[in-house]
Amino acid sequence: MRAISVKDGHGPASAMFIDDSVPDPVVRNDRILVHIKAFGLNRMDIWQRRANYPYKLPEETHGNVMGVEFSGIVLDLGPECSSGTFHVGDRVFGLVYGGAYAEKVTISEKMLMPLPSEISFEEGAGIPETFFTAIQAIHLVGSIPPNANVLIHAGASGVGQSAIQLAQLAGANKIFTTAGTPEKCELVKSLGADFAINYRAGEDFAEVVARETDGKGVDLIVDLIGTDYWERNVKSAAVDSRIVIIALMSGSKIPDFDMRPLLTKRVWICTTTLRVRQPKYQVKVKEFFVENILPALVERKIKTVVDRIYSWSQIGEAHERMEANQNAGKIICTVD
Ligand SMILES: NC(=O)c1ccc[n+]([C@@H]2O[C@H](COP(=O)([O-])OP(=O)(O)OC[C@H]3O[C@@H](n4cnc5c(N)ncnc54)[C@H](OP(=O)(O)O)[C@@H]3O)[C@@H](O)[C@H]2O)c1
Repeated sequence: MRAISVKDGHGPASAMFIDDSVPDPVVRNDRILVHIKAFGLNRMDIWQRRANYPYKLPEETHGNVMGVEFSGIVLDLGPECSSGTFHVGDRVFGLVYGGAYAEKVTISEKMLMPLPSEISFEEGAGIPETFFTAIQAIHLVGSIPPNANVLIHAGASGVGQSAIQLAQLAGANKIFTTAGTPEKCELVKSLGADFAINYRAGEDFAEVVARETDGKGVDLIVDLIGTDYWERNVKSAAVDSRIVIIALMSGSKIPDFDMRPLLTKRVWICTTTLRVRQPKYQVKVKEFFVENILPALVERKIKTVVDRIYSWSQIGEAHERMEANQNAGKIICTVD
């Protein structure tokens, strides 16, 4: 089959190409073979392309082919698939450990989802990774309390946009978010953020949080930034609040940090990663999504924002856009 490979195994965005000599995935056990119509890009794909992905991946990663989320059409079913759940020709979408930058992928039937007719292949391909991550940040790990004040960093990122909308669906009181351009600030407000703080314009989120919460702080912080925001995150955290660390986009080291404020305010520091989670956990997240979030997407109460759609023949350009932080929402590639 054809799939995206990287010249010499790893390298810059320009080293990616459509390789027509990648072996077809084999349908076995409870796996389902899907003909991919579209896939979503994620930051981890950049690390994988550069061969510096920091975590050990489970075995079923389809070799080195990048890509964890896709939409498409069922082509074949393994011998252990339960009867009646999926059929050849069904529209589907799902999350895999790798292999979605391709014409075909196999996925356990437990992780596959029917794609509702209201959702296009392009939108569907950009849903699983960010919404599953946001489910962890807001619910499974973040345990958002009722009427919570919430701070979500990188609000215009794929994960940030999903987290803002899930916080709103969960009945959050005030949603604070950071973003790097006026356009991104407008976008996050349209998704439900009450305060969009443009950090590149010199606005300080800790000051806004303190002012708008009468100094109490927020009950949940979803952090994707790390080093640059750590001190101000701790300052912005309310008593008995949680900080859920999802990513460390500005770095991971915190020199001379005083732990006292964490103890004084009984702040819970939580972390989570999705891709390296065991299949059983991922199935739990998927079931939470299907039951609680997918209906809101179908009814258009919430949405996935598609930043730009490329043909997969433009994969280099698509990666460069993400690397330059130009995207606001999901970058999608169609497989044609
Ligand atoms: N733990 C997990 O399970 C998990 C799952 C999915 C993703 N992630 C991670 O979450 C992060 C976001 O992923 P995504 O796909 O949502 O990203 P994305 O849509 O590509 O958006 C990332 C945005 O973050 C902002 N940003 C980047 N570097 C920054 C910095 N140093 N300081 C402040 N803001 C910065 C930029 O927006 P501005 O212009 O607004 O600055 C950038 O556009 C990635 O690091 C990804 O690996 C983790």
